[in-house]
Amino acid sequence: MACRSKLHHILLSVVCVILFSYAGAYDPLDPTGNITMKWDIMSWTADGYVAVVTMTNFQMYRHIMSPGWKLGWVWAKKEVIWSMVGAQATDQGDCSKFKGNIPHCCKKNPTVVDLLPGVPYNQQIANCCKGGVVASWGQDPSAAVSSFQISVGLSGTSNKTVKLPKNITLAAPGGGYSCSPAKIVPSSIFMSPDGRRKTQALMTWNITCTYSQLVASKYPRCCVSMSSFYNSTITPCPTCACGCQNKNKCVLSAPKIQSVVTPTIDNPILHCTEHMCPIRVHWHVETNYKEYWRVKMSVTNFNYFINYTQWTLVAQHPNLNNVTQVFSFVYKPLVPYRSMNDTGMFYGIKFFNDLIMEAGPDGNVQSEMILQKDAYTFTLKEGWAFPRKIYFNGEECMMPSPDQYPRLPNSAPANLFPVSLRAALLAICLLVFC
Ligand SMILES: *[C@@H]1O[C@H](CO)[C@@H](O)[C@H](O)[C@H]1NC(C)=O
Ligand SMILES: *[C@@H]1O[C@H](CO)[C@@H](O)[C@H](O)[C@H]1NC(C)=O
Ligand SMILES: *[C@@H]1O[C@H](CO)[C@@H](O)[C@H](O)[C@H]1NC(C)=O
Ligand SMILES: *[C@@H]1O[C@H](CO)[C@@H](O)[C@H](O)[C@H]1NC(C)=O
Ligand SMILES: *[C@@H]1O[C@H](CO)[C@@H](O)[C@H](O)[C@H]1NC(C)=O
Ligand SMILES: *[C@@H]1O[C@H](CO)[C@@H](O)[C@H](O)[C@H]1NC(C)=O
Ligand SMILES: *[C@@H]1O[C@H](CO)[C@@H](O)[C@H](O)[C@H]1NC(C)=O
Ligand SMILES: *[C@@H]1O[C@H](CO)[C@@H](O)[C@H](O)[C@H]1NC(C)=O
Repeated sequence: MACRSKLHHILLSVVCVILFSYAGAYDPLDPTGNITMKWDIMSWTADGYVAVVTMTNFQMYRHIMSPGWKLGWVWAKKEVIWSMVGAQATDQGDCSKFKGNIPHCCKKNPTVVDLLPGVPYNQQIANCCKGGVVASWGQDPSAAVSSFQISVGLSGTSNKTVKLPKNITLAAPGGGYSCSPAKIVPSSIFMSPDGRRKTQALMTWNITCTYSQLVASKYPRCCVSMSSFYNSTITPCPTCACGCQNKNKCVLSAPKIQSVVTPTIDNPILHCTEHMCPIRVHWHVETNYKEYWRVKMSVTNFNYFINYTQWTLVAQHPNLNNVTQVFSFVYKPLVPYRSMNDTGMFYGIKFFNDLIMEAGPDGNVQSEMILQKDAYTFTLKEGWAFPRKIYFNGEECMMPSPDQYPRLPNSAPANLFPVSLRAALLAICLLVFC
């Protein structure tokens, strides 16, 4: 496609950025979403304590994907980590002043990562060793937890002398998290498996980390395109929807040899498109029945060397209160405010389409859904049939501007079939790279 001048690109990017209003740290579709970290001191030792750290992802549709989380903090005193179970510090640091027993990590600011699946049992504890991958609460609460055990020395040995770690950071692929200071909370209570005995942590503190798209990335990382049976025009993603700063790094076909540096979400190798987004979500209004209507959704991956595991898609549309059937995706209504039921999440079926493959012929997933009409609100006019918001993996996607939405022809169409056929064909073309 014709290359526009640099100035044109810059102007467009500026317009795109202005058009795209970020949600900030507060996500209106998941107002209480956060990742909470809990440190439970289970025992005091001669020079410190043993704690179990539990990270729970309370976010409804934002997971931590591979290669997983990295947790960092700064010790308040001269603490060292004697040992860890279920996780490890990435850098031991300078332990030269220790003789005999050498600590696991002597750094003032340790960085801890989860262990990989399949480590020996004596290095595991419950909810560990998933390579730092943590599911979203909406998709799988049982997999939304990650834990490790840490044995700390040269620290206080009572709840009066222990100092809490400072400057806690949670890094995840794609970034975007900031964490509160640790705060002492009432000690956790644990139930024995048979429910007949209660035990209590000696001391507990919590840290809450929240996500902000603005912190995560200057540009959006997904966009929305649209089409309909009643108009053969396909509304593409806005040009430079995800910023054109990588325009000269993109490629037109799968690179033969993988570069030395493995591409990551933060540093991808993209297929060249006008929008330059790693992910495009296409919403096609497919059919209008008497009492129902039908939507086709497809998600296309433009990343080479990046597979999206456990992906999630969130849509906001007033008719989602009346979803009748969803094919080949799982659907779960999200009801952040009790009075509104206009938001829901979609995700893949395990072992079938919960993985979106890297860019190429298999780099997409699709689904259709049938919605029951409410005679008073349903209309094909004014873009009503298109979503208000789309999120992919918890990031808001850039929408086309409303004046670009497919519009109803002014005259009532006499025969919809050829038009819908044409639109369907175009939609198929759109699935292949545009
Ligand atoms: C974190 O999320 C949980 C579950 O949604 C919620 O109960 C809690 O209030 C949240 N914490 C903060 C500090 O927002
Ligand atoms: C501390 O975090 C846990 C989740 O790990 C949560 O259940 C608990 O309510 C939190 N406590 C406070 C006071 O926020
Ligand atoms: C410390 O422990 C004592 C009892 O061992 C308890 O009374 C006190 O409330 C605890 N203080 C804190 C800050 O947890
Ligand atoms: C914690 O972070 C703040 C701001 O980034 C910095 O000013 C401060 O020095 C840090 N504290 C420690 C102990 O590193
Ligand atoms: C993506 O998944 C496919 C199929 O499981 C695999 O062959 C490929 O190596 C994966 N690519 C990456 C970058 O993990
Ligand atoms: C929300 O809508 C779904 C159908 O999409 C329905 O199954 C669910 O019961 C509704 N929930 C509430 C709280 O209205
Ligand atoms: C779904 O639509 C029907 C028909 O308009 C309506 O009677 C019903 O209340 C709707 N269901 C919900 C959950 O809004
Ligand atoms: C289809 O929609 C486009 C974009 O809104 C509009 O410009 C065009 O006139 C519409 N086509 C017809 C046949 O109405």
